[in-house]
Amino acid sequence: MALYSEKVMDHFRNPRNVGVIEDADGIGEVGNAKCGDIMKMYLKIEDDIIKDVKFETFGCASAIASSSMATELIKGKPVEDAMKLTNKAVAEALDGLPAYKMHCSVLAEEAIQSALDDYESKRGKKG
Ligand code: FES
Repeated sequence: MALYSEKVMDHFRNPRNVGVIEDADGIGEVGNAKCGDIMKMYLKIEDDIIKDVKFETFGCASAIASSSMATELIKGKPVEDAMKLTNKAVAEALDGLPAYKMHCSVLAEEAIQSALDDYESKRGKKG
């Protein structure tokens, strides 16, 4: 059996939503100290809807595929839904990740959470 699903390979080779949003409403950056991979998420939010999302990932194939899939899963969705996105949902949407690569999908969940936290604190709701 192939190590990676077709979907992982597709999102790794043709990642969706790569880049930077200059006037982002929320930015989150997270890293994994063990592997050294870094993920940065940018959110553009209007009326509590994720209007746009972009990412930059300096990491492995699974991290890039997870970031790409995570952006697809939250784009156009309410902030509330994006807050509930789990790494499990990202991995499932990719038709699975090898067990030792699950932490790559955790980075995607954390990067989005961090960007949402930034958005909330900028709006003065938190912190
Ligand atoms: Fe660390 Fe994939 S190996 S994010």
